[in-house]
Amino acid sequence: MNKASKSASYIALVAASAFAVAAHAGPDEDSLTINGETEIVTETAAPDHLSDVFDTIYSGWRFRTDETQSLEMDDFDNPGMLTVDAAMEAYATAEGTVGESCQGCHEGVETFAGLTPTMPKVDEETGKLVTMEDAINDCRTERMGADAWKWSGDDMQGMVALIGLQSRGMPMNVAIDGPAAPFWEQGKEMYYTRYGQLELSCANCHEDNYGNMIRADHLSQGQTNGFPTYRLKQAKLISKHNRFRGCIRDTRAETFAEGSDEFRALELYVASRGNGLSVETPAVRQ
Ligand code: HEC
Ligand code: HEC
Repeated sequence: MNKASKSASYIALVAASAFAVAAHAGPDEDSLTINGETEIVTETAAPDHLSDVFDTIYSGWRFRTDETQSLEMDDFDNPGMLTVDAAMEAYATAEGTVGESCQGCHEGVETFAGLTPTMPKVDEETGKLVTMEDAINDCRTERMGADAWKWSGDDMQGMVALIGLQSRGMPMNVAIDGPAAPFWEQGKEMYYTRYGQLELSCANCHEDNYGNMIRADHLSQGQTNGFPTYRLKQAKLISKHNRFRGCIRDTRAETFAEGSDEFRALELYVASRGNGLSVETPAVRQ
């Protein structure tokens, strides 16, 4: 197919799918302080590797309605905190054949402050790209003698959010060079690949059209600094990989599995597009 007919069929498909793009509305001007004390950076200069596409990066919070935004401004109103509280209990509870709790080995959960901004990262010994879910399940299966948690289950996402909460307000800062480089390249390639019948890449929506409306949704830059996020629509904390699946499915494509190596690489790349934005978990989204 030549370029012109390809873009004509792209437009036809997009129109057929009620992909209505309204006037560019952009992010709003609101600022986010949680519990009246933790200031969240929801807007900052784009990281160097994005300098040819963006001047400024924004948290998804800036694209939500006032009502949804307000749920994240106080932990008492944040429906995601229930799952985080349950994770706090699990953190202190011994489980598995070894009879140890997370707390027994790691002491207070606040010792994890600073970890989330660096995740995912490459394990120097194995050379593998490790997400927070991997690190947690590794402790469960290898160190506690307990069962692995399901990737997107409440147990797992509550614990990922509890550990993330210890870094709330700190800037995301994943490494993309050295041993991380090949994973980052793989993730970048995925980000710009057009998926599905609609032939849409992540970039078509979150880079070219952020600020616009798609169906009833105000499109953000698709940042992951708020994850796990509490999604009102799903009424639970959702994982990054669950979100990636949903977005790819919306293009009517087959998708990768949660916990797949493809999604690990994509997670690193997408995280790097948010380097500089505050860790915000558990964020609240529509
Ligand atoms: C038997 C002791 C033990 C138990 C129980 C344990 N861990 Fe670990 N954990 C370790 C050790 C040892 C490491 C590797 C060294 C380190 O990074 O602290 C580790 C690493 C981690 C890391 C990665 C830290 C990093 O800097 O990369 C996370 C996250 C983690 N554990 C979470 C948990 C959680 C959550 C639980 C409970 C579900 C748990 N661990 C239970 C011993 C334990
Ligand atoms: C057809 C358009 C479309 C495509 C293609 C798309 N998304 Fe999305 N995505 C959305 C919409 C709509 C939302 C919900 C509104 C928002 O936050 O932008 C969303 C939300 C997200 C969020 C949550 C943002 C937040 O602040 O909670 C992430 C992360 C995300 N997308 C990543 C991706 C990735 C990675 C890809 C490519 C694999 C992708 N999206 C492809 C439409 C799309």
